[in-house]
Amino acid sequence: MKKSLIISLMVAALVCVFALPAVIAGNAAPDTVTMKAPEGARMTKPAVVFPHKAHADNGLDCMTCHHKAKSKDAVKACASEGCHTDASKGAKKDPKGFYAAFHSKKSEASCLGCHKKTKKSKAGKKLPVSCKVCHAK
Ligand code: HEC
Ligand code: HEC
Ligand code: HEC
Repeated sequence: MKKSLIISLMVAALVCVFALPAVIAGNAAPDTVTMKAPEGARMTKPAVVFPHKAHADNGLDCMTCHHKAKSKDAVKACASEGCHTDASKGAKKDPKGFYAAFHSKKSEASCLGCHKKTKKSKAGKKLPVSCKVCHAK
């Protein structure tokens, strides 16, 4: 009886040691994100795999992309409530629409906007600007 209690306590302690840092880190930046259309919207193109780490390691400012976040620790997904939620056809040109978040040529926060402007990586590699490269199967 006593022995099993000690074992339980040890297990509980171990859980704390290993699980707590993950809870505290909470909003850690992902290495890659498979980007999806908001719930309820139909996807017409293959999902884009966004190499988050390659961008963060490149020294880009978090706030360029997470342009509405109050701080680095308060980052949310692009299609969060109040942001780029409207994925309807009618909202394609709306700068707050889902489509513009990734394809607006006017905003450096959008994938295409920044890639068109920046053109090349530091290593001289051409940044993807064609549909097929981002929406690859
Ligand atoms: C080139 C643009 C870009 C840069 C720079 C960038 N991020 Fe991101 N980040 C994204 C995109 C796009 C997503 C995916 C959002 C989605 O799922 O809608 C994301 C997702 C995240 C998430 C997960 C959010 C969630 O709840 O889904 C965190 C946390 C995050 N980024 C933190 C950071 C931090 C910290 C930095 C700076 C070190 C940073 N990001 C730099 C574009 C960027
Ligand atoms: C603010 C500028 C900026 C934004 C916004 C941005 N990118 Fe990039 N992207 C870059 C840079 C710079 C690189 C080169 C990174 C490196 O050093 O390899 C890059 C590289 C890439 C690559 C190629 C990686 C490789 O291994 O060749 C992909 C794919 C990519 N970006 C997708 C996206 C997608 C999808 C989004 C939007 C969700 C996005 N990017 C938003 C600047 C940006
Ligand atoms: C730099 C990367 C990038 C390029 C280039 C790009 N897109 Fe996208 N696109 C995205 C991201 C990221 C999303 C968000 C969700 C997803 O589909 O994965 C998206 C979403 C979409 C959507 C809404 C979701 C769906 O599947 O219906 C459509 C439509 C779309 N793109 C069409 C295009 C077309 C057409 C082109 C070429 C003119 C293009 N995209 C070029 C990154 C890109």
